[in-house]
Amino acid sequence: MIVGGEAELLLLLHIFPDGVEELDGAFAVYADEPPIGFDVVQVDDVPDGWEDEWRSFHHGVKIGNFWVGPPWESIVIDPGRAFGTGAHPTTRLTLELLQRLEPASLLDIGCGSGVLSIAAAKLGFEPVHGIDLDDAAIESTLENARVNGVEIHAHRADALTDELPRTDVALANVQLDVVERLLPRLQCGRVITSGYLDRDRPDVEGWTAVDRAEADGWAADLLTLRP
Ligand SMILES: C[S@@+](CC[C@H](N)C(=O)[O-])C[C@H]1O[C@@H](n2cnc3c(N)ncnc32)[C@H](O)[C@@H]1O
Repeated sequence: MIVGGEAELLLLLHIFPDGVEELDGAFAVYADEPPIGFDVVQVDDVPDGWEDEWRSFHHGVKIGNFWVGPPWESIVIDPGRAFGTGAHPTTRLTLELLQRLEPASLLDIGCGSGVLSIAAAKLGFEPVHGIDLDDAAIESTLENARVNGVEIHAHRADALTDELPRTDVALANVQLDVVERLLPRLQCGRVITSGYLDRDRPDVEGWTAVDRAEADGWAADLLTLRP
């Protein structure tokens, strides 16, 4: 159901695709000329950089069974035969911790459908490498990256035996035993780990947990390498 201001906002966005903002109970629209047929109360020149400004205002809306929103706020995932719709608590917790970090180069270990790699790329992490044991996961990650308009360097690899790309940050949403076995092999200073219950914590010499997120009995940790 579309109600009240939401319906008006959608109508205005239809007429003024360059942008619409809600300001003090009225709507401001971005247009080359003052709009005809509307009760215009004020006309202002817009400052440079308004395109980015209005992006911060433009959020998605739920319309019936659909969520309609701007590309920088959305990730479309077809998991195919790979793990990772984005709904699992471990995926959400990893993404929550990732958003607390400054963008840098990143390795997504066990990328599955590519959901975390794509989110990282949309957050400005670059380059983003994804690895997974499963060929179907690599296929799915590359296809989902294409659909979402981001670049992911994905290839099949076993994080426990193959050489790993050197990056600033790594993600590892895999089981606890795999996390603990791969930590000594990582060539990075920070890693977000998940894939285990909130009663568990990775315990590996040299790595210290500096942040944690928990939900629905699951956990994710941000670990840093002690100098
Ligand atoms: C729980 S899924 C996580 C998928 C996705 N990153 C997410 O957060 O939704 C774990 C993935 O790790 C992969 N995996 C497990 N052990 C691995 C290993 N040793 N090396 C590389 N990938 C591994 C699995 O194939 C699976 O796709």
